[in-house]
Amino acid sequence: MNFIDLRYKYVNFFKSKGHSHIASASLIPENDPTVLFTTAGMHPLVPYLLGEKHPEGKRLVNWQKCIRTGDIDDVGDAAHLTFFEMLGNWSLGDYFKKEAINWSYEFLIKELGFDQDSLHITVFEGDKDAPRDEESASYWKKLGISADRIHYKPKKDNWWGPAGITGPCGPDTEMFIDVGKNKCSDACAPGCGCGKYIEIWNDVFMEYNKTENGEYIPLKQKNVDTGMGIERTVAMINGKNNVYETDIFVPIIKKIEELSGTSYQKDGDTTKSMRIIADHVRTSLFIIGDDRGISPSNLGAGYVLRRLIRRAVRHGKKLNIQSPFMSKIATVVIEMMKDIYPELKRNETRIFAELEKEERKFEETLGKGMAELEKILPKLSQNNQDTISGRLAFKLYDTYGFPFEFTKELASEKGFKVDEAGFNEAFAKHKELSQAAQTQNFKGGLADHAEATTKLHTATHLLHRALKNILGEHVNQKGSNITAERLRFDFTHTDKIDGETLKKVEDMVNEQIQRKLEVKMEIMSLEEAKKSGATALFGEKYESQVKVYTIGDFSKEVCGGPHVDNAGTLGKFKIVKEQSSSAGVRRIKAVLEN
Ligand code: ALA
Repeated sequence: MNFIDLRYKYVNFFKSKGHSHIASASLIPENDPTVLFTTAGMHPLVPYLLGEKHPEGKRLVNWQKCIRTGDIDDVGDAAHLTFFEMLGNWSLGDYFKKEAINWSYEFLIKELGFDQDSLHITVFEGDKDAPRDEESASYWKKLGISADRIHYKPKKDNWWGPAGITGPCGPDTEMFIDVGKNKCSDACAPGCGCGKYIEIWNDVFMEYNKTENGEYIPLKQKNVDTGMGIERTVAMINGKNNVYETDIFVPIIKKIEELSGTSYQKDGDTTKSMRIIADHVRTSLFIIGDDRGISPSNLGAGYVLRRLIRRAVRHGKKLNIQSPFMSKIATVVIEMMKDIYPELKRNETRIFAELEKEERKFEETLGKGMAELEKILPKLSQNNQDTISGRLAFKLYDTYGFPFEFTKELASEKGFKVDEAGFNEAFAKHKELSQAAQTQNFKGGLADHAEATTKLHTATHLLHRALKNILGEHVNQKGSNITAERLRFDFTHTDKIDGETLKKVEDMVNEQIQRKLEVKMEIMSLEEAKKSGATALFGEKYESQVKVYTIGDFSKEVCGGPHVDNAGTLGKFKIVKEQSSSAGVRRIKAVLEN
């Protein structure tokens, strides 16, 4: 079974159990400043897990594009990927453990054909926050899983979420396939990383909300959130050892072999470089090609993108591939994925342009790094030193994007060594610092700032309508980003907007706030919504039912929410900045003052 069939089998199975198929959300989280990328299918659903009503009902299923970059330096081994697709089904306060477990079993054994005897299960062992999950264990036993294949594990293994610091979370039950290898030790069990037990699916029972003080408060509703990685599952169904040998990666690797004139099998280093290139090209093009796509930069998600592209180029150099080459590989991925993610084709020109631009930029930086190295080597010789310090090697890595091996190679050609221990030390320190910064980013997550962001979200609708009224109907939302402090709104419009016009827009929004317009939500079909004159964003939606938010007689938009109940609660709206975002797109930043 290939990666296309698997997703339809999954979606159709859960449709037959009353689930609605919803579209994959953007990779760039909307209205959530606490994370750089969407990391799981539940992420865009957080408001609904907390109790907001979903227009498609209480049972949902989808495939979601996801990015996890925590282990970026491990990519190249058999297991790690930065971009992957996650299959998931959700109950929003509807069914719970029994149905979720029964359907997981039915899908794995009856639909995918896994051998029941290879199935191992883990469940939560219980602690002060939540009880031992005997209930889940009992359903697995009823399905015929013997007690010796049900393993009780602590919170660090069998609890999922919240995605940031606060939010929905709960105990989970994880399913593992024993691939038949020998145990690596007596203690070897599901969760051991030796490769005997491969995790295939995770059913999370989200019935708690973790607060800022670290307390677990029962949620209004009991939810189910599940996640199954497509790449890994396809590998296992087809008896492959790793994802790079599946139909998802084979055509990409073939293209890299063709460009480099080298075989994937040549040696360990070549295999690793090809895997890195394949993974990083895929992730980069999905980031750029998203409808909320971004460009390489030195900040946040843009910086991650920059690192991915540069690392791919470095490995391309190792394989003697002529730069720019990433677009050539991207073409293969876009062809494979375009029916599933039509935005890739829509944004293809931008994908190619951004990849090439960044590759060329990197070529220049690489030159500067080389120049720095050439300056330093003679100085070392003069001082009778034969070793490049770890600090310098790290600077070359961090500032100029030189891999350690690259520096070592260059150095040895000129008769120098590199202080590897010093480099590792500098690297570890850097990693610690950036992880601390990441944690800082998470602090005060979405849920804490819910009220402020909800208000700004409603203000965004007012702004959108006011811009259309004053500048013209050509104004359309291109992007929105909301933090607890401000809103940022990107929209189609070519010219700079003068101060007087901005003032008119501001006044119009404030007028609606003063009118204390009521905010109402209705659920209807996308067709009905369009007919009723609602503004709708983004082309492809599978949902037949959508939410339409109206603000008095002023604004009507298709949107997931949440919003305030009355515009009168917003305070005073103030535009703080108007600037260009990209060609033909302007950006406004605005705040609400009390
Ligand atoms: N959200 C859960 C996960 O990512 C299902 O594993």
